[in-house]
Amino acid sequence: MDKSSSAVRNSGLVASAYTWLDERLGLDEIIAFARHKTVPQHKHSFWYYWGGISLFFFIVQCLTGVLLLVYYRPGPEAYDSVRQITYDIEFGWLIRSAHSWSANLMVLAVFVHMFSVYLMKAYRKPREFGWWSGLGLLGIVMVFGFSGYLLPMDELAYFATKVGLEIPASMPVIGPFIADLLRGGPEVNEITIQRFFALHVVVLPALFLPLLMFHLWLVQKHGNAVPPSEEEKPEALRRSMPFFPNFLAKDLAMWLIALNALALLASLFPWDLGPQADALSPAPVGIHPEWYFMSQFQVLKVFGRWFPGMTGELLGIGMFTIAGVVWGLIPLYDRDSKLAMRARIATWIGFAAIAGLILLTIWGYAEV
Ligand code: HEM
Repeated sequence: MDKSSSAVRNSGLVASAYTWLDERLGLDEIIAFARHKTVPQHKHSFWYYWGGISLFFFIVQCLTGVLLLVYYRPGPEAYDSVRQITYDIEFGWLIRSAHSWSANLMVLAVFVHMFSVYLMKAYRKPREFGWWSGLGLLGIVMVFGFSGYLLPMDELAYFATKVGLEIPASMPVIGPFIADLLRGGPEVNEITIQRFFALHVVVLPALFLPLLMFHLWLVQKHGNAVPPSEEEKPEALRRSMPFFPNFLAKDLAMWLIALNALALLASLFPWDLGPQADALSPAPVGIHPEWYFMSQFQVLKVFGRWFPGMTGELLGIGMFTIAGVVWGLIPLYDRDSKLAMRARIATWIGFAAIAGLILLTIWGYAEV
């Protein structure tokens, strides 16, 4: 059979497979919908990729997480099972390394996504619920990271979790109760691993997935917001591209870049496994939580130094609570570009938040 007739036969096969699927699933309607959706094009369009990049790392987390589950054993054997994954099982080290690196890259991507939608003012009407559901996702992502960090139960994981739990424990009234509930008693031990494990693989995914669906559905419903600088332009000067196939192809190219970055990091800098945790040994020097908790940790530390006793901790927690509430309520304050003063104040709050988080994190690392 010559090449052209095999191509015709193949395209015939593809066409009949497509028709078969379309009759049952309504593919034509989905494609027509995707073609109808457009994505605005302007000098800030680059920032539209970051929600998708966050999604990509989440998918990597699910795939590598399931593979880790095949060998991981929570409880007293946790450390041994991670040692086995890292040193005995073929490519176990790579899967573990990819899971840990991708977790960090995901938190980073979510932060970039949050600050970019903030500065593009994409939280304004009618996208308030996109903002609030996003904040819920960010909260869950951070608890994912915190709960996952303990699971190998090496020295660093153990002491960092002990230190990290001081943050919720210092909340007034409910703090000690929450810390005890998470630890399963006054100490971090095997019972804590069991609880963190249940949180990490059952409770958090069960909360995350429906919230993510809601978030993505809202994006479909309202489309991408254009930043105020674009909104001012007359309709005729605004440009956009079809989501399918143009923007999707660019999104996938970004995913490929993200995959390459992850592959390089995971293979060139394999995730370490320290010595087994020993509750009786003294904490090694320089113990600190993951980088995305460093700013809160530093605030608590500094306030504790300035105002010894409970006062410092309460002030630190109070400051973060107020900052969080202001951040969450921003869509109700900066509602419209007609309220020019509010718009400007909100932008400055955004820049101050970015600068504050970066400076506190650097300060935190400088002191460990
Ligand atoms: C795992 C976490 C998250 C995932 C997977 C995710 C995913 C996405 C995706 C795919 C989009 C559409 C593309 C884009 O505009 O980038 C989007 C839009 C959006 N996201 Fe997220 N997101 C997450 C977290 C957040 C956070 C933390 C916030 C803010 C607090 C947020 C607020 C928004 C808003 C307001 C939009 C609409 C943007 C617009 O209309 O241009 N998201 N998200």
